Amino acid sequence: MLATTATFFELVRDRLSQVEARMRAGSGKHHPNTDAAIEHLLASGGKRIRPTLALLAGEMLGAETERTVTLAASIEMLHTATLVHDDLIDGSLLRRGLPTLNAQWTPGATVLTGDYIFARAAQLAAQTGSLRLMELFAQTLMTIVNGEITQLFRSRRGDLRQSYYQSIYAKTASLFELAGEAAALLGTSAEDSIRPMKDFGYQVGMAFQIVDDVLDFAGNQEQVGKPLASDLRQGLVTLPTVHYLEMHPEDPDLVRLLEDAHLDSQALDRLIASIRSSGAIERSLEEAGRYAAAAEADLATMPDCRETEGLRQLARYTVQRST
Ligand code: IPE
Ligand code: IPE
Ligand code: MG
Ligand code: MG
Repeated sequence: MLATTATFFELVRDRLSQVEARMRAGSGKHHPNTDAAIEHLLASGGKRIRPTLALLAGEMLGAETERTVTLAASIEMLHTATLVHDDLIDGSLLRRGLPTLNAQWTPGATVLTGDYIFARAAQLAAQTGSLRLMELFAQTLMTIVNGEITQLFRSRRGDLRQSYYQSIYAKTASLFELAGEAAALLGTSAEDSIRPMKDFGYQVGMAFQIVDDVLDFAGNQEQVGKPLASDLRQGLVTLPTVHYLEMHPEDPDLVRLLEDAHLDSQALDRLIASIRSSGAIERSLEEAGRYAAAAEADLATMPDCRETEGLRQLARYTVQRST
């Protein structure tokens, strides 16, 4: 697996460092605390999977490097800003193995830093010079925010599986979709190339988030960089829990969790162990594999080149990853 991940990241390594530079450009002009916060966030790393997808897709379709790099930086900045606000909303103190901004600062300072990064992301999107791209950028941010609001006011009525898919589209797949579609339209005006790349982003994004939710249950805490089983502890129902519910609708711990009753840590640990050993993890991974396969199928009509092969590897990596 390491060999696979290395190859497709390797293909865009130079441009990824240009993306890092674009994200940092503009530092020194503003409040030193804003600069320090942005530096802390960017230095904490992250897999850079979204900009990698955008770079590969843009280069595959012949987009100008400068514009693709700008787009990739815009997308990663948008991702970073959503994480800043999300960690504040979720009260998360650890990300990428490091303290979050809200673990160190007041909510006010954290919100404003997030706003600042959103604005910087929008500025980068504008610098691509594509009005259609800016429209997609704004639409995606609206989708992400609407997903977060929906989760805040969530109700347990209705189809849990359906609301799970809607929520992972909003929080993750929508941004991957933007990466695929926007990169494609920088390279071509042919809608029959743009559409499959939008769908590629969508399918990879859905697979990526399902695997993220699986890693929350079954991953390695140090590799994942945040406390395990935090979703269920926050009362968040993800795909492994949906599968488990379909197999064991009568589990009393789960019934109480779904009624929003308080579960003590013993009951939670018991439920987590039951979900882990039920086969729900494996079923969830199979689903992620189907999304990744659909993503690969979207590449069938793309040019036969290294970037296309890189995207194929990226789709496989989303389901094989352990971090
Ligand atoms: C974390 O995304 C938030 C989700 C939408 C799952 P990533 O797993 O891509 O986070 P980094 O950027 O690599 O840390
Ligand atoms: C984070 O969502 C993704 C966005 C805010 C877009 P989550 O709250 O589900 O993910 P983690 O667990 O904090 O990464
Ligand atoms: Mg959240
Ligand atoms: Mg969160």
